[in-house]
Amino acid sequence: MKYLTLLFCVWITQCFCKDFAPIKDKPIFITGVAGFIGHGLADKLLELGYDVYGCDILSDYYDLNLKRDRVKRLEAKGLHFYRLDVRNIKELTPLFLQLQFDDLVHLAAQPGIRHSLTHPQDYIDHNIDAFLQVLELCKKLKKTRLIYASSSSVYGDIQLFPQHEEMNVSSPNSLYAATKIADELFAKVYHHVYGLQSIGLRFFTVYGPWGRPDMAHFMFTQAIDSGKPVMLFDGGRLYRDFTYIDDIVNGIIGVIYSNLQFEIMNLGKGNPDKIGDLVTFIEQKLGKKAVVVEKPLNKTEVYKTYADISKAKGLIGYEPEVDLKTGVGLYIEWYKSYYNTR
Ligand SMILES: NC(=O)c1ccc[n+]([C@@H]2O[C@H](COP(=O)([O-])OP(=O)(O)OC[C@H]3O[C@@H](n4cnc5c(N)ncnc54)[C@H](O)[C@@H]3O)[C@@H](O)[C@H]2O)c1
Repeated sequence: MKYLTLLFCVWITQCFCKDFAPIKDKPIFITGVAGFIGHGLADKLLELGYDVYGCDILSDYYDLNLKRDRVKRLEAKGLHFYRLDVRNIKELTPLFLQLQFDDLVHLAAQPGIRHSLTHPQDYIDHNIDAFLQVLELCKKLKKTRLIYASSSSVYGDIQLFPQHEEMNVSSPNSLYAATKIADELFAKVYHHVYGLQSIGLRFFTVYGPWGRPDMAHFMFTQAIDSGKPVMLFDGGRLYRDFTYIDDIVNGIIGVIYSNLQFEIMNLGKGNPDKIGDLVTFIEQKLGKKAVVVEKPLNKTEVYKTYADISKAKGLIGYEPEVDLKTGVGLYIEWYKSYYNTR
């Protein structure tokens, strides 16, 4: 009977996942809503009829205009935006008590693997301390489920592929990865001790319109477009499981629609591409040739990321749809219109 109920829940979730039923006025809260993934998620939830609240500190880690433009766009569609540090629990608590969110999607963080070499304290502040405050907030609220961003970087340089959730993730290559592993462990403790529901999502190299300027797809596009050199670690022979933003957003919404209580789950494409192929697709779309400069591997770069997505497929009916060539095409169309019209 228990098994039949579980199958029924999975089937219902899968139906929703393919074509999300509109939900009117259900309040949901997103931290890091001015960020790349936060913006994509809020955009889709607003379209589905959710009442979306969100906060962001608007850090200047990358172009603040891009973050402001994302917020402006979302506010025009109905986002309730708070410029707030998630560690400011004093201000957040009354709002949460008033609106009783079922789900808190925590995406706020200091991202970037290379930046963690030069700014280690940012990762302690925004990935560890901030996460602890979010856990404490959820503990106080009792009913709110936490859906939070982890990362493929937790797998470090594990040379077994595809990478699945049961693998031992105790050998991170960067401080950034270490903070994401710590978050997963903190969430486990809060589930064990306080029964806090949480779903950790290990995102794999997300790209697409409104993407981050510190990531390869932006840096390569900008360099190729302006005739500047493209720096390629190991000549582009590394692999990444590049995942299009809409697929990631559909995965997160699949979790929101589900009854999952405590999980850690990969969200990737499940099919890695060579970084050199990313360069080729950008060249083709821009109609310009890249000037490639090879760089030796540094200690924080891993050879390959490759998501095993069978768990997400089974639990939420997750089915990524966008291949790298198509996604790069969509990204460059956005890039041209956004950066040429400002
Ligand atoms: N983009 C990817 O490829 C990728 C891959 C793996 C994991 N992730 C994770 O997904 C999440 C979202 O990533 P993203 O690509 O949208 O990054 P992003 O930098 O675009 O967004 C993060 C946002 O969080 C905000 N922020 C940081 N600290 C804050 C704080 N203390 N309080 C409030 N806001 C704060 C920043 O201002 C930023 O706008 C992050 O947790 C990141 O580590 C992203």
